[in-house]
Order: sequence, then C-alpha cells, then structure tokens
Amino acid sequence: MTDFGIIGVGRIGTSLARNMSSNGIKVSLYDKSFDTSTDIKTHYSELESSLIFNDINKFISSISSPRKVLVLVPSGPSLDEVISLCVKNLDSNDILIDAGNTNPTVSFKNHQKINSKNLLYLGMGISGGVEGVLKGPSIMIGGDLKAFKEVKNIFSKITSNTINNTKSFELFGDSNQGHFVKMVHNGIEYVEMQLISSIYYLMIKSNKYEYDDIAKIFKKWSKSDLNSYLLEISSTKLLEKRDGNFLLDIIDDKADDNGTGRWMLKYGVDLGCSLSMLNAALDSRFISKNNNVRLKFSNSIKKDINEYDINISSLADAYSFCRLINYVQAFLLIDSANQNYGWDISISKALNVWSNGSIIKSDLINTLYKDYSVDNILDDKKIFKILNKLKPRLIDVLNLSLKNDVSLPCFSEALSYINQISSLSLSTKLIQAQRNQFGSHKININ
Ligand code: 6PG
Repeated sequence: MTDFGIIGVGRIGTSLARNMSSNGIKVSLYDKSFDTSTDIKTHYSELESSLIFNDINKFISSISSPRKVLVLVPSGPSLDEVISLCVKNLDSNDILIDAGNTNPTVSFKNHQKINSKNLLYLGMGISGGVEGVLKGPSIMIGGDLKAFKEVKNIFSKITSNTINNTKSFELFGDSNQGHFVKMVHNGIEYVEMQLISSIYYLMIKSNKYEYDDIAKIFKKWSKSDLNSYLLEISSTKLLEKRDGNFLLDIIDDKADDNGTGRWMLKYGVDLGCSLSMLNAALDSRFISKNNNVRLKFSNSIKKDINEYDINISSLADAYSFCRLINYVQAFLLIDSANQNYGWDISISKALNVWSNGSIIKSDLINTLYKDYSVDNILDDKKIFKILNKLKPRLIDVLNLSLKNDVSLPCFSEALSYINQISSLSLSTKLIQAQRNQFGSHKININ
C-alpha cells in the first residue's frame, strides 16, 4: 500500500511525486493517459517504489486508508470529471486535495459536493513551478481542519524553510481561502513580471543597452534589496541563445495567461477594490495577443524612434515604488475579502508561506514580513515615508517614457493610484454631480 495518491501527473505532478518519493513518502500515480509500458519510473529513479496506474479503481485500492488523493488537473471539465470520479470511488473520511490553480468560487462548490459524501476536502494552491515543486514548494491551503491535520506531516517533509523558520505551507481558512491566497500570489506575480519586462523594454528601446547590459544591471540588482526569483530568471533569459540567436530576438511576444489574474480582477470588481496594476499587467498580455489590430495600428500611428539616456538609479527607485504599491493593492484586496466574506486570512502568514519556494519569493517579501505591520499596512508610517521618498524618481522615469513613446504598464498605474488614493478631493465630485443631473441619483452634501 502507498501513503499518498496523485491524479494528473504532468510537469508539476511529476515534480511533486519525485519530491515526495525522495522524502520517503510512497506514492500511487494515476493519469488516464499513462502508458504503463513507457513508465515514468524509468526516467526518474526516485519514483522506483511508486505505483503507476491508468485504472482509477486499482489506483484507489493501492492507497492506505484514510486515503489522501491530490488532484493536479486544469480547472474546468477535466477537474469536474476527476472530482466526480473521486466522489464515486473514495470512501468516507478519505481526503481529496484539489492542488490546481482553481477559482476559489469553484473550490467552495467542490467542497460542498465532496462533503455531501462524507469525504474531506482541501483546496490548495501550490507555487514554485517545476523546479520549486521538486525542491520545496510554497503551499497555500484551505478546507477541513481534520484533513489538514492528517496531511500536515507529509507537507512538512516536502516544503522549504520560510523566513520565520517554519515550513512553507499554511492553512488559511475554509476550502476557497487557500486558492484565494494562491490567486493573490499569482496576481502579484503578474505585476512583478510586467514591471521587470517594462524595465527591459524601456532600456532596449533607448538604443543604448544590449541584452548583456540589461542582464548585468539585473544581476547587480539581484545582489541588492531588489533581489527576487523573477528578476534572477529574467537576467538568465536575457542572455539565453537558441541556434546562435538571442531568445528575445526570436520569441513570439504574445503572452498567455491561465486565468488566475482574471479571477483576481473579478474579485476586485466584486469587492470594489482597485487592482489597477494587475489590470495593466493583464491588459498588456491581452494587447500582445491582438496581432491583427497591432499590425493595423502600427502601420498608422506615428512613433518617434529616439535614443535616450536612462538614470539607472532612478529606475531602481521607481521599480521599488511600484513593487510596494503592488503589495499594497493585494493587501487591501485581502483586507476587503476578510471584512466582506467574514474570512480571517492573515497577510503575514501569506508572506511567510511565499517567502520560500514560491515564484514571487524575494527580499521584498522578507522585508515586508519582518519590518512592516502588513496586517494593518495603512497604519504603518514606514511605508508612507518610503513612498514619499521614491515618488519623484517614478515621475522622472515616467516623463522619460512619455517623451519617447514607450509605455510602461504598471508604472503609470502605480503613480495614478497613489495620486488618487492620497487625495481628499477627487474628480469623482463632478461624476456624482453628473449622475445627479441625468438620473436624479442621490448625492450627499457635506
Ligand atoms: C506558481 C505559478 C503557477 C502559474 C504560472 C502560469 O506559483 O508556480 O503561479 O501556478 O500557473 O505562473 O501562470 P500564467 O499562465 O497565468 O502566467
């Protein structure tokens, strides 16, 4: 008998299985498309003692009770199919763990479906990519406490050590709240990726920097408090070559997304919370995919091709400013969800879990965790002091970008957000007056 079952053994599932096996956890693996003759065991020696199935009944019978079955399949029809299979085949008190990037709303519904058959449920976000999941992922969990207690021991063997010297997994609340924290992690990730990409773009468009120069600057920043996993991989990718060509000279610029950013934006809309930086990051991906429209506009809109100098120290400060605003917007979304849904997601716990193993791990997360009151960020004087200090540098960078027809998604939104959120008097006065005029909408007179 094995200790743990995994359904859906793609790239992340394989890494997880290898991680578990090397830590003494015997796993059963199921994938309906498994070709048992070309066994993945032959590729990965760690998986030698694991059992491989393409028959669900045999898979389930191979796991010791109460069974722990983790599902890693894409959200949508495939997940629905697997959940139904599990509900049909598992026994009471068995534990089903949905470890995919699942919409928190769907996670909640699946929990109810599963509980109706006396199965236990955990909705769990897992971060780290192929390598991180192999070495020690960051795991965000929601669901039944009883189930969490059963899997705790296993997760403490496969995760990393956090900034607080705990293991990088945490229970955040009910079924949907683990996936919610993972969704917020992804939203932060989208913005961080866009900020780094905007910096690269401003530099390359200046005609004064080659990939090599940009990579050198990123590497230098990686040795400072700007360090992050995403910055590190960016400098590597800037230098990567394929068949003698720089990857960035030949790579298609259409950026995909798996939906998590869209869900987060939808939560922002439902809660009336500004996620302007995430919106800009997603917008850039949408624009990038609109090839025909881009072609039409590029033939018709005049753009100046200039050479310009960049003050790298201003750019670093502008980047720091924007990274902080990204976290502020994410924290305020979590606050609002806590207040409106009666949740109790701890932001400091989230930062702790993200501090190692996750895609967004960075010195900034460690600093926010150690030096700021993140659960009440608006009462923290330090953050305002730093924002005030950095803001003029962001304005310099934006001025440069505007003069040279280079748009810096996320940078401009950070400035616009801070200018509005820090104003006691806004343009919305006139909006209220207009609404009052054409719709007789009620207005408040101070
Ligand atoms: C992680 C990542 C991962 C996500 C990819 C792709 O934490 O390991 O967030 O879960 O699926 O980053 O996301 P997009 O396809 O939306 O860019």
